Amino acid sequence: MKEVRTMEQILKRNSVKQPFRALEKRVRNLIYKPFVEWYTSRESSYKYRDIHVKVKPGVFHPRFFSSTGFLLEFFEFINFNRKKVLEIGSGSGLISIFTANEGANVTAIDICPLAVENTNLNVVSNQDKISLCGGNVTVLQSNLFENVPAGIFDLLILNPPFYQGDAKKPGDHAWYAGKDMEYFEELFSKCRNYMGRDSEMYMVLSEDCNFSKIFEIAKKNAVLIKAVAVKQFITENLYIFKITIPT
Ligand SMILES: C[S@@+](CC[C@H](N)C(=O)[O-])C[C@H]1O[C@@H](n2cnc3c(N)ncnc32)[C@H](O)[C@@H]1O
Repeated sequence: MKEVRTMEQILKRNSVKQPFRALEKRVRNLIYKPFVEWYTSRESSYKYRDIHVKVKPGVFHPRFFSSTGFLLEFFEFINFNRKKVLEIGSGSGLISIFTANEGANVTAIDICPLAVENTNLNVVSNQDKISLCGGNVTVLQSNLFENVPAGIFDLLILNPPFYQGDAKKPGDHAWYAGKDMEYFEELFSKCRNYMGRDSEMYMVLSEDCNFSKIFEIAKKNAVLIKAVAVKQFITENLYIFKITIPT
């Protein structure tokens, strides 16, 4: 993994126009996007290590977006054994299953009913390995913390939507965080109810998002946010942030 940039460097880079990146993105939108739309319009399979998952149409597909893989790569360095984990926005369920296979007691939530169904399907098909590893996954439909039972989690993990704008259909929730980034307002204002002194939240974000707005919301809600990993992909840089509650 590449050296981590400071938050100031991230913001500076985020504000600089990058003409080649813009061109790459245009090409991606013209060629790659239609292909992904075609591919994900039917149920397909995906394999990560020894985890096999099915991905239903309309559910975020880990094959085509590097954020899921980057989080999983980063999670190799985290000890999940016997940890109480909350995955916010589980999509296909791949990340929840990975952490349960590391021995975690996972609550996987998603706002989208289809994603909840998809996570459940994959938890069931991977249940033998999950049980063998001493983990477990409970799946719930929940708009952020709405239906999450009270309690403190050791780790909160998320690959969140980050584009500014409103979701018009359930599948859009994978991308849109609200016109005024209400997703992050709700996340940072409520997370302290589920985090203790030693709890950590790990979140992946693309440089395509409005970092300054997200950092501003974090600051307003007095949560500490710090970049801990960065990785360069062909069309974007991805960052992993660690979020904690100051004591
Ligand atoms: C970018 S996808 C990530 C899916 C999966 N974690 C992965 O990495 O492959 C974001 C997920 O968050 C879910 N989501 C969006 N807004 C949510 C909310 N307010 N509460 C719970 N889940 C939400 C979406 O439905 C989507 O499944």
